[in-house]
Amino acid sequence: MSRFFLTTPLYYVNARPHLGHVYSTMAADVLVRFHRQLGETAEYLTGTDEHGQKIQRAAQAAGISPQAFADANAASFRQEWERLDLHYNYFIRTTEARHAAAVVEIFQRLQKNGAIYKGGYSGAYCVYDELYADVQPGEPCPECGRPTESLTEENYYFRLSAYTDRLLTLYRDRPDFIRPESRRNEVLAFVQGGLKDLSISRTSIHWGIPVPGDERHVFYVWLDALVGYLSGLGFGSPAASDQETFTRNWPAWHLVGKEIVRFHAVYWPAFLMAAGLELPRGIIAHGWLLFEEEKMSKSRGNVVRAEPIRQVLGADALRYFLLREVSFGQDGAFSYDALLGRYNSDLANGWGNLAARTLSMISRYCAGRVPAPAAETNWLKGDQEIRNAALAARDGLREYFQQYQFSRGLEAVWQLIAALNRYIVENQPWVLAEKNDPETQARLHTVLYIAAEGLRILAVLLASVLPDSAARLWAQLGQPGDAAERLDTLTWGQLTAGQAVAQPESTAPLFPRVDKAPAIVRLRELEAALDAEPDFPKKSIQPEVQSMEIQPDASSPASTPDLPAPLAAAITIEDFAKVDLRVGEIKTAERIPGATRLLKLTVDIGLEVRQIVAGIAEVYDPASLPGRKVVIAANLAPRTLRGVESNGMIIAASLGEHGKPALVSVPDDTPIGARLR
Ligand code: ME8
Ligand code: MG
Repeated sequence: MSRFFLTTPLYYVNARPHLGHVYSTMAADVLVRFHRQLGETAEYLTGTDEHGQKIQRAAQAAGISPQAFADANAASFRQEWERLDLHYNYFIRTTEARHAAAVVEIFQRLQKNGAIYKGGYSGAYCVYDELYADVQPGEPCPECGRPTESLTEENYYFRLSAYTDRLLTLYRDRPDFIRPESRRNEVLAFVQGGLKDLSISRTSIHWGIPVPGDERHVFYVWLDALVGYLSGLGFGSPAASDQETFTRNWPAWHLVGKEIVRFHAVYWPAFLMAAGLELPRGIIAHGWLLFEEEKMSKSRGNVVRAEPIRQVLGADALRYFLLREVSFGQDGAFSYDALLGRYNSDLANGWGNLAARTLSMISRYCAGRVPAPAAETNWLKGDQEIRNAALAARDGLREYFQQYQFSRGLEAVWQLIAALNRYIVENQPWVLAEKNDPETQARLHTVLYIAAEGLRILAVLLASVLPDSAARLWAQLGQPGDAAERLDTLTWGQLTAGQAVAQPESTAPLFPRVDKAPAIVRLRELEAALDAEPDFPKKSIQPEVQSMEIQPDASSPASTPDLPAPLAAAITIEDFAKVDLRVGEIKTAERIPGATRLLKLTVDIGLEVRQIVAGIAEVYDPASLPGRKVVIAANLAPRTLRGVESNGMIIAASLGEHGKPALVSVPDDTPIGARLR
């Protein structure tokens, strides 16, 4: 059986998901369900991209460690997919150990194959896009327009320039490699312009996977993140079952937003060529959701979230809107007004009304059972037209969805819905039902059979885009199993006469009509309430006085040497009282192998002796520490650093550019266990 494997981008965890992320993941979910209906085994992977400066800074601003910050937002991505019924098959977080192992493995392959050398960079850097920009430092980034920063560092380089010809050959031999065509042309122009070697490590950033053998460097986020498509499928794991998962699913298709096509269509195939791995099957790029005429994004502050829409209209309505309203591949505007407009016209008055009226007439006029139609030789022209419209909708949906033209495919299906609603009006079953002669009754039965069979076909056609409503309609028609039947075997006339359908009194309408103005007010209220929640609950003390493994980075405004960090937002005395600060005495101190900054300490806090990992090894000699009194945050949840459990945090001032720790001291005679308040 043929297989279809798809990936979504691995989303940054610098904030909670917004509708832009939902758009990609919903499109992936639709595509995968559609491929299953083509008879393929189809699955998808999603995940989160958790390293890099952007996340390091967001965590710093929230006053917590990057890992804790990433944990919280990765969890909100998963929660979002769960609530929206997006059933991904694989999830990868780039802070997982299995991922780091895969990145190291790829790097070693690149090194072995001569694709890596050491060099230096001095110039402009865009923190937002995580890329070196070909402009003067301080000038706007050519990608996003935000001001660049100045950066000088030593780097490992990947010989991207050596792959120019092989990439051009790839695009020529596989014209479908990048879809749609417009994006392919952009990539072609970029590569034809000549490729420069690519820096794949950073010393200016600490939140990342260390380069093996040279741990001052961490891997460039894009090398790190792209490998997530492999590690998430088991690459780099010694276990046979993981290797089997990998070979079964790779190569995959990548679904991405248009702004990251270059990373997927240029850098990624080159990395894979150099590592001796198979290239992806292709890159499918969609456009941007715009809100108030700009790209919806966290940094522009114009995001809309899915949760209010799910609560008011349901996830299916959102899936439908995004795929119908936006021409896939192009940018599309989002507005509540358009959402509710389509909801009422296409779903409530279109499909929902057709279903409700058909089922209620079968219930009223045919004792709740699908009637038997007349033989097709006795059909009228209008009857045949409906059958033809159903087959045309099926073929249209298949054709268009295979070309990623979801909006067109849905349009083809809505032509069937419109035809059926017209058919019912023209045939007036309620008038036919009043006459009891056999001929009129036979006509009534034919009309209602045709309407019901049309509904059955619609449930199958819409199962990928509107899975929940399709399943409900399927059950209302008394059909066994799942509405997501195969499209290649879907034909007219598979509904059997005599089949009992749901009683209208006992079924909720598929899409109840919604009053637009009050619904928009409600959506805005829910949105405002969600917006008021921070992406991460702000911690009481900020910034984290002594950052453990992660030092504030040199170029961050918060750590400019002669300027203290800005004050954190005000908190109440109750907030402060939640932090249990205690005087403790260090009992033992030892280095942690492989971690240059970390010491493993045991600290007596009066009530007990704690094991604490502290990032102070560069300044404090372990031999000098036993007997020293220190201040610790005693009620922090335990966490693990380099595999060592840490129960609390030693408080230190953070000094200078690199955040050197200076332990906070108390008078020598302070009793162990005293609380600071
Ligand atoms: O780029 N309209 O992550 P990211 C449509 N971590 N889609 C949108 C969108 C919008 N307004 N906003 C976001 C990254 N998206 C990297 C990817 S992959 C190995 C690493 C979607 O959190 C769209 O798919 O910035 C876009 O490409 C992706 O989210 C970017 O997510
Ligand atoms: Mg982005």
